[in-house]
Amino acid sequence: MDKLIIEGGHTLEGTIRTAGSKNAVLPILAASLLSREPVTLTRAPRLADVSTMLGIIRDLGAEAEQDENGTVHICAEGDITGRATWEAVRKMRASVCVLGPLLARLGRAEVSLPGGCNFGVRPIDIHLKGLCALGAKVRIEHGFVVAEAPPGGLRGARVFLGSANGPSVLGTANVVMAATLARGTTVIESAACEPEVIDLCDALVAMGAKISGQGSPMLTIEGVDELHGATHDVIPDRIEAGTYVLAGALAGAQVKVADCQPAHLGALLDHMNEARVPFEVGEDWIEVQAYDVADTPPRSTDVTTHAYPGFPTDLQAQWMALMTKADGLSIITERIFPDRYMHVPELGRLGANVRRQNTAVVVRGTPELSGAPVMASDLRASAALVMAGLVARGTTEVHRVYHIDRGYERIEDRLASIGAAIRRVSE
Ligand code: EPU
Repeated sequence: MDKLIIEGGHTLEGTIRTAGSKNAVLPILAASLLSREPVTLTRAPRLADVSTMLGIIRDLGAEAEQDENGTVHICAEGDITGRATWEAVRKMRASVCVLGPLLARLGRAEVSLPGGCNFGVRPIDIHLKGLCALGAKVRIEHGFVVAEAPPGGLRGARVFLGSANGPSVLGTANVVMAATLARGTTVIESAACEPEVIDLCDALVAMGAKISGQGSPMLTIEGVDELHGATHDVIPDRIEAGTYVLAGALAGAQVKVADCQPAHLGALLDHMNEARVPFEVGEDWIEVQAYDVADTPPRSTDVTTHAYPGFPTDLQAQWMALMTKADGLSIITERIFPDRYMHVPELGRLGANVRRQNTAVVVRGTPELSGAPVMASDLRASAALVMAGLVARGTTEVHRVYHIDRGYERIEDRLASIGAAIRRVSE
C-alpha cells in the first residue's frame, strides 16, 4: 500500500489541467455494452476505477482497453455473458450500472449486490424500481440481483425515480440505458440532472438512442431496435477541478484550473464568493488569486449538500478543509449521504476544530493546522486530508492512498507541478 508524504507550507502557484470525469465515464463504459459496434471514448481519465470497469467489461466477454493517450476502445461485438460477480462489484459500487445495459441487450442480468460502502448504506432500490417499471422481474438470489425481461423484451413506461435523499445519479443512468432498447416510450420523472447524466445521454444519442430532456428532471426515451458505434469526448471532471480550486483557496495561492467547465461548478463558485475567496473565471478555467490567509482568512460560510445544481456532496469534505482556516464558525450539512463524515476525526488530528452534531459538522476556523499521520477513508475525504496537509505546519502522512487513486489522476504529480512538496512511497 502507498502513502503520501506532504511537507506543508510550500508556496503553490501554477496551472493544473482537469482530466475527464470519473462519474461520467463509468456509466458510459457500461453503456458501450449496448452496442455490437466499437465505442471510442476520448478524454477518459486514467484512474483505478476506470481500470476496474474495463476489467468487468472484459470479464463479460467484450474487448476493452485504454491506450497511452487515455482513449478507451470498447467492442462488445461477440457474445457477452450477463453475470457480474461479487469480486468485480465489491471493488466499486459503480459497477452496478452494467445491470441496465445487460438486461436490455440480453434480456437477463445477474449482478452482485454492491453492499455497504465507507460512508453508510447505499441502497439500489431506485435502480430496481425503474427496471421493474420497464417490465423486468427482479429478485435477490445468493447475493445477486437477478433481473429478467418479459417475453418480447423491456417495454417503455412512465416511472418516478425520486427518493427521500433526492434523485439517484446511477439509478437514472441504469434506467435510461435499459430504456434505450425498450419497446415504446419511457418517461423518467425526478431524473438526476447532474452533468454526468447529461454526458451519458449525449453518448447514448451519439450511439443512436432517442433521448430528450437531458439536464431536466424529466427524461423521455424512445426505444430503438439497436445502437451503433460512436466516438464520444468525456466531459471534464467537475469534482477534480473543484478540489484543486479549493486547494488553491485554502493555501491562498494563485492556482489556475484549466480545461474545466465552470458552468458545472456554479454552487461552489457562489459559496467561494460568499467566503470572499478571490478568484476569476473564464470560459474553461477558474483561477484563485493569491491572498494572505492569515491576514484575511476566508469568511466562514455554511454549506448544505444537494443534488445538482446544489452544492455537491463530492466537494463537502474539501469545503470543510477550507473552513478549518476560516474566520469563525461554519456549519456543514450533508443531505445526500448523512454519514459521509469519515474525514472529521482525521482533520481533527491535523489540529482542525471540527465537531460532528448528528447530520451536521460545526467547524471553527483556526489560524494553524499541524502535520500528522492520517488515514484516508474514502476518495473525497482523502482529497480533503491532502489539501489540509499542504497548508499544515510540518509533515503529514496520508495512508491508504488507493482511495485517492480511484478518482484523482496522479494527484501527487499535479500538486508537485504547482510547487507542493508531496511524494508517494510504498509502505
Ligand atoms: N439512493 C436510494 N436508493 C437508490 C439509490 C440511491 O435511496 O436506489 C439514495 C442514496 O442513498 C443517496 C441518494 O439517493 O442518499 C443519492 O445517491 P445516488 O444514487 O445519486 O448516488 P450514486 O449514483 O450511487 C453517484 C456518484 C457519487 C456521488 C453521488 C451523488 C458515481 C459513480 N458515483 O453515486 O460519487 O457522491 O452520485 O452525487 O457516479 C464520488 O465520486 O466520490 C462519489 C461517491
